[in-house]
This record gives sequence, structure tokens and C-alpha cells, in this order.
Amino acid sequence: MHPSKGISGSLSSILNGKRIILCVTGSVAAYLSPAIARELMRHGADVHAFLTPDAVKLLGPQLLHWATGNPVITELSGELEHVKYAVGSDLVLVAPATANTIAKVTHGVADNAVTALLLTAMGYGKNIIIVPAMHEPMWLAEQTRRNVEALRRWGVTVLEPEIVEEKAKLADPAYIVEHVIRMLHPKRLPEGVRVLVSAGATAENIDPIRVVTNQSSGRMGLEIALEAYRRGAETQLILGYSVVEPPRYIPTTRVTDSESLRKTLQTRLTTNPPAIYFSTIAVADYRPRHVWDRKVDTGTTPDLKIELRAVDKILPIVKSISPSTVVVAFKAEYNVDDETLLQRAEKLLEYSDIVYASDVGRPGSEFGSKTTTGIIIDSERKVIHVENLSKHQVAAMLLDLTASKLKQLGM
Ligand SMILES: Cc1cc2nc3c(=O)[nH]c(=O)nc-3n(C[C@H](O)[C@H](O)[C@H](O)COP(=O)(O)O)c2cc1C
Repeated sequence: MHPSKGISGSLSSILNGKRIILCVTGSVAAYLSPAIARELMRHGADVHAFLTPDAVKLLGPQLLHWATGNPVITELSGELEHVKYAVGSDLVLVAPATANTIAKVTHGVADNAVTALLLTAMGYGKNIIIVPAMHEPMWLAEQTRRNVEALRRWGVTVLEPEIVEEKAKLADPAYIVEHVIRMLHPKRLPEGVRVLVSAGATAENIDPIRVVTNQSSGRMGLEIALEAYRRGAETQLILGYSVVEPPRYIPTTRVTDSESLRKTLQTRLTTNPPAIYFSTIAVADYRPRHVWDRKVDTGTTPDLKIELRAVDKILPIVKSISPSTVVVAFKAEYNVDDETLLQRAEKLLEYSDIVYASDVGRPGSEFGSKTTTGIIIDSERKVIHVENLSKHQVAAMLLDLTASKLKQLGM
């Protein structure tokens, strides 16, 4: 084995057994291609690079040979590399793609290793992702617009560049890798499935700058949103206060208190009902009966008495507005035995299909930690015990369960 392949599968095994052809063209963004190749390998992919003559001038083949651990194809020979690699590929990724290569592919030109491979792969109906990078005027030129439109019409995925400093810059490499995973995920959800996730904590004002809240970090919800996105869902996030930041490719609506959460949810459920709703957000259970309209001064008010009242529960509105939505509810308990945890989880099944109740009092399961301990229970009273698993693993388990629920419902 080439020593560079030692990193294979170090992040996940999601792309195990997948062969990805990474085409690199003559753009300055070619310097990012080796890092993209390495990240795909860390998820288990076998990456083979094809370079255009201009990419060879800019980058040279050696760096990508090192990065992928595989020989780099820069020209065609009697081996018919364009056919051999197109047939054996699971996905062809062109990153970066120049305006020139995009134009050639659109018009069926096959005059170098990259364009010949792309035309062949398109003929075979392979998965193709094109990631453009160029000066903004090249991107805006009518010819490029039409070429990109045609490629999309033919089923090629073209990722939008980021317009910065009058350049249409290569999309974020992390986003490119996520998109590859999304296309090749072995547990892809049905096309067009909408998943809504709420995460983080809400807070209720005491005065204009002080709040009553809880310690939810938003980590569990974010892991669920990321996993749903990876499985191909149209994923949206409603996020309260959180210590984690969502990536830009997941549309996110911010909420502050329970009222703004209620309104956002009501609108979303009415106008765009999701197939699955993960109610991960930890609503601040209490709100002050009285809210001071200016900052309370500790000098004049050393003892502040705040009377708190429980806020109305929000979960019940979900099924009442959108009965067909599969609802996953979450509950956090503190230092209780499994039986009590189970009893409290069961209560939430009145408004949901699946519940995950965690005990944030157990070591490794605290708010904000990357691991969690608790109990999953579904409407058929099937119970799964979760013992110190990563929140990502639990997110994957919950998505498996909701996917089979959707199947049962014929969705
Ligand atoms: C240093 C340098 C950087 C370039 N960067 C880009 C770029 O980012 N995007 C682009 O479309 N063209 C860029 N070009 C122009 C392309 O290299 C040129 O159009 C070439 O014909 C592309 O060939 P290819 O598509 O076969 O790789 C650049 C040229 C040079 C010399």
C-alpha cells in the first residue's frame, strides 16, 4: 500500500469502497485539490486524479500522486484511461473547474484526459459534481451562465461558487466533501424528504440584558441536521442559543424565546410541513412573571426577587398542525434511574413517535459533551439503551429509526 493511504478511513467509513475521480483544471484554486482528495480519503474513498495540461503547468502531477497514493492521469494512452476510469467510478468530481473546461464539457469537446473522461462519464450517466472557480466576470458571462444551466439540466451537479473580492471562488472544501458524501450515502433518504431540526436553548428575559435559560449546547441537534443533510434530506435548522455554529449550507432560522420558537414552528409546519421533525431544542421551562423594562441595578437592588412561571409546552402543536410529520422528542433528566428515565420518556410519546431521553447527570453525558447516555423509545414501546455513544452515533441511530418509520407510512 502507498504510505499516503495510511489516513484512509480515519474520519469515517462512509465512502469505503467508493472510487472517486478527482479532475483538476487550470485554476489557481487547484492548490486546494490535494486537501480535498485527502479529506475524501479520510472518509474511506479511493481517489484517482486526472489533470488537464494547464493544471499540470500550475500544480504538476506529483503533489496529487502523493495526496492520493495513486498514479495521476495527465494524458490518454492505449490503456483508454477515459473509458477505464469512467466505468469504474462511483463519482467524478471536478474541483476546481475552469470556465474553459465547463464550456468544453457542455459542447462535447474531448480533447484532453479530463474532458474525454467527463464526456464518457456523462454518457454512462455517472454521478458528476462540478465545482467552478474563476474571476467573477467569467462566471457572469452569458456563455458560462448558459453552459452551467445546460449541465444542470442534464443532471450534473454544479456547486455555486462563493463571490468574494470579485472572484467566483471555489466552494468551501468541507462543503464539497459533504456534497460528495450526500450523493454517495448508502442510507440516502427518499428524494425531496424535508427534515426540520430545532436545537440549542431558548431564553426568557428578566430585564433587557439578563435571561433565564438552560445549558443546552445545540450539539445533538446539529449532529442530527448534519446527518440528515448527508443522507440527502432538504434540511432546515431552527436554532436558539448555542455554543456550536451551523455550517452555511444548512438554512438556519434563529430564535430567542419560546414565543419566537412557537411562531417560527407554526409558520414552518403550516407552509412547508416536514416529513420528520427533531425537537432537540431545550425550551427554558420558566419565564419571569414580571420583565423589567430597564437593566436592574445591583447597587439599588441587591436582592432581586423573581417569580417564575412554567412556559406552555410547544411540542403538542406539532402533530396538531401537521399530523403526518414523524416527530422525535427529546428529554433531559438529571441523575435518575433507567426506570424513571423510561417512564418520563414514555409520557412524551403522547405527542411524538420516538423519544430520546438522556440523563445529563451521568458522567460523559453532561450538557455540551460529545457523548450521551440515555434511552430511545418508539411508539411500539421498543427500547434501545444508549451508553456513552457519540452524539453523531445517536443522530445516525435516530435517522435510521425515522427512515424506517417513513417507510412504514409509505412515504
Ligand atoms: C495563474 C493562472 C490562474 C488561472 N486561474 C483560472 C481560474 O481560476 N479559473 C479559470 O476559469 N481560468 C483560470 N485561468 C485560465 C485558465 O488556465 C485557461 O483558461 C486555460 O485554458 C484552462 O485550461 P483547462 O480548462 O484545460 O485547465 C488561469 C490561468 C493562469 C495562468
